[in-house]
Amino acid sequence: MTKQKATNVHWHEGDITRADRNRFLGQKGATLWFTGLSGSGKSTIAVALEAVLYEHGKLSYRLDGDNIRMGINRNLGFSAEDRTENIRRIGEISKLFVDAGLLVLSAFISPYRADRDRVRELHRDAGFEFIEIHVDCSLETAEQRDPKGLYKKARAGEIRNFTGIDDPYEEPESPEIHLRTDRMTIEEEVGIIIDYMKNEGIILID
Ligand code: ADX
Repeated sequence: MTKQKATNVHWHEGDITRADRNRFLGQKGATLWFTGLSGSGKSTIAVALEAVLYEHGKLSYRLDGDNIRMGINRNLGFSAEDRTENIRRIGEISKLFVDAGLLVLSAFISPYRADRDRVRELHRDAGFEFIEIHVDCSLETAEQRDPKGLYKKARAGEIRNFTGIDDPYEEPESPEIHLRTDRMTIEEEVGIIIDYMKNEGIILID
């Protein structure tokens, strides 16, 4: 837990509640947390899911590693400490958006189990849904795809601390959803997530 620096601060409740906002939007805010190697398909699935949700009149918002690192987290790199701080901030942002009523699609490598578990706790303590989705493919497949050419650079020693090459990835032990992106189509993957959300009462669509 990051220690709180400010003293004498108090939570200020408004008159419009979380339940009001959920009713307003016709959905139950939730975080869908996509974790996996670079190139495993996290962003691709989140983008496809966002489009399907939109078609069904559901409001989602994507938070994506590369994008967030160009803005609020531009001062963070890829050391273990920086990755932990990256995930801590995203966890807090996701929680705020869930409180706003959104379906938050957070796509980050998030290689450390403890960091992901802290985000889960943060949600659980507030009574929020947290759905961990392991976007799983072998390192060989991710490296073959190499959509940004980063594995090649990492192998050549041009990038240090690259997840899967010279930096660890700790697989989730019991994710709510496990997708094998080297064996499934995008449509199947999106279908699995949508079914899960329906079953959990997060969205009501036929
Ligand atoms: S995380 O580990 O802190 O969760 P995050 O998802 O925000 O990572 O960012 C990962 C993205 O940063 C990758 O998809 C890749 O494009 C880029 N990247 C640049 N350097 C590295 C690195 N050393 N390790 C992993 N990803 C990197």
